[in-house]
Amino acid sequence: MSSPASAYEQLLAGREVVVVCGPGGVGKTTVAAASGLLAAGHLGGRVLVLTVDPARRLATALGLDGLDNTEVRVDLVALGVASPRGELWAAQLDTKGSWDDLVRRHAPDERVREAILANAIYRDISTTFVQSHDYIAMERLHELHASGRYDLIVVDTPPSRNAIDFLEAPGRMAEFFGSRLLRWLTAPYRSRLFNVASRPFYTVADRILGQQFLREIADFFILFQTMHSGFVERAEEVETTLRSRRTAFVVVSTLDPAAVVEGAFLVDELAARHLHLGSVVVNRVLPSFLADREAGDAAQRLVDDAAAIALSLEAIADVSLLEQVLREIGGSFLDYGVVATRQGELRRELVSGRPFAVVPWLATEQSDTEGLVRVADALRGEATP
Ligand SMILES: Nc1ncnc2c1ncn2[C@@H]1O[C@H](COP(=O)(O)OP(=O)(O)OP(=O)(O)O)[C@@H](O)[C@H]1O
Ligand SMILES: [Mg+2]
Repeated sequence: MSSPASAYEQLLAGREVVVVCGPGGVGKTTVAAASGLLAAGHLGGRVLVLTVDPARRLATALGLDGLDNTEVRVDLVALGVASPRGELWAAQLDTKGSWDDLVRRHAPDERVREAILANAIYRDISTTFVQSHDYIAMERLHELHASGRYDLIVVDTPPSRNAIDFLEAPGRMAEFFGSRLLRWLTAPYRSRLFNVASRPFYTVADRILGQQFLREIADFFILFQTMHSGFVERAEEVETTLRSRRTAFVVVSTLDPAAVVEGAFLVDELAARHLHLGSVVVNRVLPSFLADREAGDAAQRLVDDAAAIALSLEAIADVSLLEQVLREIGGSFLDYGVVATRQGELRRELVSGRPFAVVPWLATEQSDTEGLVRVADALRGEATP
């Protein structure tokens, strides 16, 4: 990799895994894609952007038709990087496919493997359980990282949920497989001599849930128990990857007050878990010029003196119309100024003493790929608080 200039570039150059997290809708996918573009395009090496968000946003942003578990190469030249130094790859987590792979790897023999894959409860868990999605995402990340195929993996995390759940998925999974509840639930099926006292419970449960369902659950857990040690070991390895110095977290937030609260909370939670905060990316920031006092004074003059100014511009259009336009423009500027000033305060609060990068508010009519290059450029630039 070539020598990086900005702090954000140093972050990308120095880590092997960068997990992009933050509140819903703040630009996580955009920042993850732009980070991949920046790292592969300007720093070099093999870079993978892995999205665990089922939405198609990353594919669209990277100019791809679609994405799945298979990593595909992204055309950096088509994205506007004239002579890319490295390679950019992208993949989207396929929960079901990844679970099946995992079972194939950990099942002790073919019989167990086929039985698990055919089990109805397994099929439900592997396709619909949110927590199973979180776990498998971390698992897949670990697998890709351990493969050594990439110098850097940028992870785009799913929307609108507490990203902490996501980080705790490996630990919870290990706990779950070793849990007493699990042993208790499967007891009557593991042993024909199960406690007579618990028999009434199972009889009632049979009536309510149906024997077939209970049987499937028990089968599933018994089968999964055979993979227990493999799972716990893997979960611990995934945790080690997350805690490693080679992994950093990027917290993205806008300066919307609710997002700032959630973003700051996330930053604190990362610290409490001894996870490494690489950068706070403040996205969709209004230009500081809007909060500039002299600019505000000028806008106020436009409003106050609209009549006189309109008169001096008589050649352009109807004077009363011009007066109205000038008042409107000046007034809007002052309104934006109020928002920009508030954004400045919130930004100081969010960033306080932490490494950060700022991405400006981009015009919405820009295409996804154009926007991506601009976000990458912003991440390259040194920002001031
Ligand atoms: N700097 C920016 N300026 C203007 N629009 C932006 C900027 N960054 C992102 N957006 C737009 O905001 C929307 C949300 O962005 P994105 O999908 O990256 O957010 P997200 O955090 O991944 O959302 P989710 O939580 O739903 O996954 C998109 O339409 C994107 O184009
Ligand atoms: Mg997203």
